[in-house]
Amino acid sequence: MNDFLWWRDGVIYQVYVRSFADSNGDGLGDLPGLISRLDYLGNLGIDALWLSPIYPSPDADFGYDVADHAAVDPRYGTLADFDRLLAEAHRRGIRIVLDMVMNHTSDQHPWFQESRSSRDNARRDWYIWSDRPNNWTAAFGGSAWERDPATGQYYLHLFTRRQPDVNWRRPEVRAAQLDVFRFWLARGVDGFRLDVYNAYFKDAGLRDNPRRAGLRGFDRQHHLHDMDQPEMMPLLRDLRALLDSYPERYSVGETYLATPAKAASYCGADKLHAAFSFDFAGGNLLYPWNAAWIAERISRRESVFDAAGIWPTTVMSNHDVPRAAGRYSRGEDDAPARMATTLLLTLRGTPFLYYGEEIGMRDISLGKNEIVDPPGKKYWPLYKGRDGCRSPMQWDGSEHAGFSSTKPWLPVHPDFPRRNVAAQSEDSGSLLSFTRSLISLRKATPALVRGEYVPLTARRGVLAFLRTLPQRKVLVAMNFGRRETVLEVDPHAGRPGRVLLSTRQRSSGRSGSELDLGPHEVVLLELTSG
Ligand code: GLC
Repeated sequence: MNDFLWWRDGVIYQVYVRSFADSNGDGLGDLPGLISRLDYLGNLGIDALWLSPIYPSPDADFGYDVADHAAVDPRYGTLADFDRLLAEAHRRGIRIVLDMVMNHTSDQHPWFQESRSSRDNARRDWYIWSDRPNNWTAAFGGSAWERDPATGQYYLHLFTRRQPDVNWRRPEVRAAQLDVFRFWLARGVDGFRLDVYNAYFKDAGLRDNPRRAGLRGFDRQHHLHDMDQPEMMPLLRDLRALLDSYPERYSVGETYLATPAKAASYCGADKLHAAFSFDFAGGNLLYPWNAAWIAERISRRESVFDAAGIWPTTVMSNHDVPRAAGRYSRGEDDAPARMATTLLLTLRGTPFLYYGEEIGMRDISLGKNEIVDPPGKKYWPLYKGRDGCRSPMQWDGSEHAGFSSTKPWLPVHPDFPRRNVAAQSEDSGSLLSFTRSLISLRKATPALVRGEYVPLTARRGVLAFLRTLPQRKVLVAMNFGRRETVLEVDPHAGRPGRVLLSTRQRSSGRSGSELDLGPHEVVLLELTSG
């Protein structure tokens, strides 16, 4: 592709830095550790890394409570390490995307320390204070308001009480936050993931949210007044103008309570480049695993994004939801994980691959007393939180899985002696080898990246679609079932031709317009006309 645009056509890999590679034996991943694994990432074929927050943080929400936006937490390294990471990544053609947490700060952030110090502090209204709490609830449980004894007023926090929400309506706050972007842009950062961007602005009158049925407090309200306020659009225009004053910079928003329509509405030439719609992973819902449901979700997002001319994103796993491999696979079987990876890498949209997804890492399970994630502590056993999908990367079969020389902050999954990068690198049938082949096939096949999406079927457990460019058609077919089956390919679409990739050895298996599919088989092939 000669008009290759990294954030549209490439693959973005999410690194939860804390759990990726520990270079100094303190049980936490760090930047030098990540640098030492860049060759591995380069060989995997990814184009960019999104780093979960690396800023100084008291870890009330593991980095999503930032105490200083323009520094690196000493446990992860130094700014010099960060600059080295940038240089080393860029040398390999890998871009760096930072996680910007700007809806709230840590309660230890100097802004909040000043703000809470007195009612007439110059930074008092850099946060949202009230004499009387309204009915808003925190996403992690309880009221969204915390009374601060020093001044007797309540401050707003949509997450833990140690994450006060900033007041984006203050021009000084807006200026200070945009300066943070400038700080990282000047260092050479390529893009930003905006944490819960659609909650930046709250209703000016702090009106109560209407109620509705739901399981947890946060779900029992329509989030009419605490997010998705119109003031976000002019801010996005300012931010985009800032990004566009540098070459090829990127922004992707974490849409809170996402729908495709909501996500797409925040994107465009003078807004975000992209926004997560979380079609296959998001919230705490159970995402079913069958051809018909998946096809429905694909068409739901296609109809919105395609019509709006907005480039979609595809996410199967991240640091907030159970990993796809474990959601869909029983035991050691990786067939469903291969299908999830296939969707990730063959749908129209930028794939976001979560660390360890390439080897099919499963969630760890923890006892009540081992849980460290705030919502997990609050809601156990109804909801066990997000520690499960944040366990240390499984590099090899040595002690602590090659992640660290010491006991890591979260336990390593007990399957690491079998499931690790070293073992899978040597096995051509492994999920890692499959993922690597698919990324490289995607790179070599423009139709898989830029082609139109054309649904073929989602009947009888088979999901099949085309990705088409004027001169080229690629058929992607997946058998969700455990039995052999046959896919009839409409002769108008074309005839099954050269096999580009399959999860089983196949030389034939095609007769005329019929394609037989083995149990759980994934096959990508060219369609030839006539
Ligand atoms: C986003 C992050 C999540 C974090 C929350 C608060 O949803 O993905 O991990 O806890 O924002 O910052």
